[in-house]
Order: sequence, then C-alpha cells, then structure tokens
Amino acid sequence: MLKTSQPAVGTANGKIILMGEHSVVYGEPAIAIPFPATHIEVTIIPAEGPVQLDCVYYRGNLASVPKHLENLKAVVESTVNELQQELKNFKVIIKSTIPVERGMGSSAAVAVAMVRALFNYFAVTLTDDRLLLLANVSETIAHGNPSGLDAAMTSGRHPLYYIKGEPFVPFPLSMPAYLIVADTGLKGQTRDAVASIALLNKEDSEKTMLSIHQLGNLAKQSKLAIESTDPVTLGLAMNRAHEILSSLGVSNDTLNHLVTTARTHGAIGAKLTGGGRGGCMISLASDNETATCISNALLEAGAVNTWTHQLGDD
Ligand code: MEV
Repeated sequence: MLKTSQPAVGTANGKIILMGEHSVVYGEPAIAIPFPATHIEVTIIPAEGPVQLDCVYYRGNLASVPKHLENLKAVVESTVNELQQELKNFKVIIKSTIPVERGMGSSAAVAVAMVRALFNYFAVTLTDDRLLLLANVSETIAHGNPSGLDAAMTSGRHPLYYIKGEPFVPFPLSMPAYLIVADTGLKGQTRDAVASIALLNKEDSEKTMLSIHQLGNLAKQSKLAIESTDPVTLGLAMNRAHEILSSLGVSNDTLNHLVTTARTHGAIGAKLTGGGRGGCMISLASDNETATCISNALLEAGAVNTWTHQLGDD
C-alpha cells in the first residue's frame, strides 16, 4: 500500500436529535437530522516526526478538552493500524464550528471526519460500515455505551429513523415547520448523562424502563406525526419527552428555562436535545416569523447562540 504525500481532507456535520435520545441506547427508536449549519473539516498533511494535532474549535480550543484528545488519539491509532500504516510523519489540522460537548455530535463528527481524512490520505476506499466501526472506537471512549446514532448522523446527509443494531432507514422529514436550536453555553458530558441513567436503571429498573419505553413510544408517535404532516402532535410529543428526560435527571435549570421561554414565545414544542445536562435545546415553530421571535427570546434569555432550520431543508 503506497502512502500519498498529498494533503487530504475529511468532513462531517453536526447532528440534532429530534426525539429519542437516551432511550435509543436501550433499543428504542430515535429520529435525528444531520445539521450541516455546523460542520467539521479535518486536513492531513505530510510532516516529519510524531503525529501532531492542531485544532481550531467553536468557542474554545480542543486542547482544553483532554477527553476529546484521548478519543482522537484512539481513533487515529486504530485507523492507522487498520490501514497498516505507521503512526508518524503527518500533521492533522481540525477546524470545526460544531459546539463541543453540546449534544450536537461533536465527538462523533471529529471521529468520522478523521477516519475519512486518513483513508483519503492513504488513498484507500472507505465503506460506510468500516467508517462507522472505526468512528465508534472513539465514541465508545466518549460515551461509554454509544447507540451509534451520532456517528451515523454526523456521517450522513439524510434524516434517520434509527434503531440501534438495525439497518438505517432514511426518513423524509419534510414539514411546514422550523426548528430553532439554542446553545446553553454549558458543557454537557454525554458519557456522564448516559451513565446516570444506567445507574437509575440499576436502582429501579421497572421505573426507569417505563420512562425509556415512553420515550420510545413518543418517537414512534412523532414518526407518524411527521408522516401525516402534523407539527402540533410532534410538538406535544417533544414537550412530553422533555418532561420524561427531566424526570430521568438529564435536564437542568438552564435547559428548563430556555424550554419554557420557547414555549411562551409561540413554540409548538420544546425539549433538550442530545445528552442533556447542559448542551442544546430545540423548539418547533410553525412559521418563520414565530421562529425569529423564539430565537430572539432565547438569546435574550441567555442562549449563547441559536440556529434556525427549516424541516425538510436537509
Ligand atoms: C447523544 O447525542 C445521544 C445519546 O442518546 C447517547 C447515544 O445515543 O449514544 C444520549
């Protein structure tokens, strides 16, 4: 196998979980969309000596997140091993606009983009299965027990109705509705949130699994609502999901405040998205004017950033 000496690039996008975070880890369905408004680019260039990592990140340098560096090293190491190459003589430059530790798939996206860049650099064809297998090496370090949803979403271009271990089902998510995503500015460690629910499950499995099944049912209802173009039913399911996720301990005061703010400014539904305990929340609006009003209210209420996404505009 010949090593090229040409720079090579790999990319990935952020993701938003519409419904089913956490319950997806236990085999329930989730609905998620790729979120190209936030994206990552990994460039690999030839360099002398040991591997160097250079990172430019949204709101802070990756080097300030040692856990991410561990994940990155693991994914670089396992990919280079898989490619039967040497772990030296290249430099990795990472540029990202995906907020780190905000439930938008930053850890999965960096792994996906890194694997793609390394395969491009060593001029080897990469299949989707191999990509997800390698990206999930890093996700296992980041999340402990990943469902695989984040790697699938950050590598793909289509919304998915996702069930762990089953083939991906691209899901046409076209609705006359807008999703407003707001960043609390607070880090949310998905690994800790996933572990906290695992602990609840150990302490009271019956109660925890009831909540998990309810979340799964809400994802199923949301699928039907989307298929019948019914944003109101989707919004109600989002509201109920936020309550259940809160009862599982993965919301916090800031997320609750933003969720309430969105609802009082016309959102049909609002909930946390991703691992929770910080990170981002999403809200649903039926028209662009309401979406702008919600976005402004969220910024005034303390969100550090918002994005508005037209559903179906993927
Ligand atoms: C994190 O973005 C989503 C979780 O459901 C974890 C996972 O699916 O691996 C919380």
